[in-house]
Amino acid sequence: MSNTINIDGQTIPFQEGQTIIEAATAAGVYIPHLCHKPGYTPHGSCKLCTVNVNGRNCSACTFPAAEGQNIINNSRELTHDRQKITQMLFVEGNHLCPSCEKTGNCQLQAVAYQLNMVDNHFPHFYPHREMDASHPDILLDHNRCIFCNLCVRASAEKDGKNVFAISGRGINKHLIVNSASGKLKDSAIDINDCAAHVCPTGAILIKRTGYQVPIGQRIYDHQSISTVALTQEQEHGE
Ligand code: SF4
Ligand code: FES
Repeated sequence: MSNTINIDGQTIPFQEGQTIIEAATAAGVYIPHLCHKPGYTPHGSCKLCTVNVNGRNCSACTFPAAEGQNIINNSRELTHDRQKITQMLFVEGNHLCPSCEKTGNCQLQAVAYQLNMVDNHFPHFYPHREMDASHPDILLDHNRCIFCNLCVRASAEKDGKNVFAISGRGINKHLIVNSASGKLKDSAIDINDCAAHVCPTGAILIKRTGYQVPIGQRIYDHQSISTVALTQEQEHGE
């Protein structure tokens, strides 16, 4: 008999070692997430994937699936919490979607659509953050960083380079580049690196590719992030 968990009344099989989000994705159940990516070590930082497991809130991307779990994924309370988390991500940085090259391809924006986020609710921090345009091929705009750690993990785990790290806490948290000058141009990053392409927002962009796909024809202009995420992540063998 296979191991099963229950998510919102649906019985879902899981394999030993799978996290809740991995089992859910394999079964076609979307759990909102931003810092989770198949094939990457779980980080558990964005908290968007919070689900209720037997009465206790847990991060679905780090919590192992186990027999007998009764999990709530869709509830008014969780949607409300996820909206608030997403609103906080928007006000902590400088996310100006209409002028961002990533609009329509941005997972932060798409999650906000998915959660029916209609405003930012909280006052904007408008933090002063730099843009690093020093690299010939790659632009780093700190204004759009949500500290998901994916570029850090991509550079360390996939590229073997450790180009990025996250330093500081709270409002002082910031992404740092591992080079003598702190600039991308002096780092080991290359345009073909996973770290150059993994960013869910417009914080890391490839130069000279902007607007090749017109606004209105981009992936989340036509499909919800739940559909796109399930399709892409099931293809990656979750
Ligand atoms: S630059 Fe992008 S991938 Fe890296 S931590 Fe910030 S949002 Fe995440
Ligand atoms: S996706 Fe689970 S904490 Fe970010």
